[in-house]
Amino acid sequence: MTAEALREGGRVAPLDVERVRKDFPILEQEVRGKPLVYLDSAATTQKPRAVLDAIARYYLADNANVHRGVHLLSERATQAYEAAREKVQRFINAARAHEIVFVRGTTEAINLVAQTYGRRRVRQGDEILVTVMEHHSNIVPWQMLCEEKGAILRVAPMDDDGQLLLDELERLIGPRTRMLALGHVSNALGTIHPVRRIIEMAHRRKVPVLLDGAQAVPHLAVDVQALGCDFYAFSGHKLFGPTGIGVLYGRAELLEEMPPWQGGGDMISSVTFEKTTYNKLPYKFEAGTPDIAGAIGLGAAIDYVSGLGLAAIAAHEHDLLAYATQALREVPGLRLVGTAKEKASVLSFLFGEVHPHDIGTILDREGIAVRTGHHCAQPLMRRLGVAATARASLALYNRRGDVDALVGGLHKVREVFR
Ligand SMILES: Cc1ncc(COP(=O)(O)O)c(C=O)c1O
Repeated sequence: MTAEALREGGRVAPLDVERVRKDFPILEQEVRGKPLVYLDSAATTQKPRAVLDAIARYYLADNANVHRGVHLLSERATQAYEAAREKVQRFINAARAHEIVFVRGTTEAINLVAQTYGRRRVRQGDEILVTVMEHHSNIVPWQMLCEEKGAILRVAPMDDDGQLLLDELERLIGPRTRMLALGHVSNALGTIHPVRRIIEMAHRRKVPVLLDGAQAVPHLAVDVQALGCDFYAFSGHKLFGPTGIGVLYGRAELLEEMPPWQGGGDMISSVTFEKTTYNKLPYKFEAGTPDIAGAIGLGAAIDYVSGLGLAAIAAHEHDLLAYATQALREVPGLRLVGTAKEKASVLSFLFGEVHPHDIGTILDREGIAVRTGHHCAQPLMRRLGVAATARASLALYNRRGDVDALVGGLHKVREVFR
């Protein structure tokens, strides 16, 4: 079913969650004798059968290396791999397929930009601007670059609800700023940042913007041209695809000027011991045999999500998030962490004096999977004055019953720690 077919007179037909759940065989199991309640999709999502089938089909029928063989299997593998690139292009509305670089995930995408664009552009005393809410993947690569170059990492602050302070952020964009790198959606708090406005602010000062879209693509329709971002990074495994594959989108003009990162097969045009010339985009950045099956699986995941329609997914999750927020607010002693007006799919919380790790362990006994800890955002935890939180994160296959189970599990936690 297409997104268009789901829309009736401007309204989006509701997602049939029970039908959707049948596409995810893993959700049918029991955990510790209880039906699995999976509330950890911000860490990684489950995979629909369509993705598993696409990967199996590739290995069963088409497995061969890409871009090299003249034989039929290699042709088929190459076609499937490049078709996946075109699916990604359409999914985020990139202008050209060669602006899509396959990488291992968000982390690798950001490292690639820091190590190529960053190393070429950043000098001593220059500045890189990030926000206090970033995942470590969008801090450490820039920190490493700053250390190497003698540059300075600046950090945009937020308010107590977890919303960026835009005036302060704007003030931090100065003449020495060489890059603004920020998440589209916060993994720890769920805040959806007003990235279009922020990109305009940066571009007025000719500062390029990298968006870490790891937590955005499973929940929101992303249009990189409408956003105007220079780079966009995301991971397949958070989008119902396999692990080991991700995407770096970069505007062609920028990718063209960037030197390659890793050297090896496929990224060259010709090699002699005196000099190597590099391949055209995007292959210049895809050294070695890529994760062919991963790209094909990601393509299948994109087909799956597009088939349900991001408008329908977003409407379902919006409704579920509102239900869950209300339900958790009614649990005595529970404090939600991250209460921004614009949020997606994440409920971070503290529960009385109970350590988040204990919350997670007791919920696990009830078959409920949540994440506990610092969520790879230690500077954010410091800003919040906490060591850790418990985090329930929602996806398209979650339903109100999962939230009710979580609330029931929390009552068990209270009994244990009474
Ligand atoms: C916002 C954000 N950025 C980056 C990452 C890193 O993604 P990966 O480990 O797939 O590279 C994550 C994963 O949790 C994330 O949530």
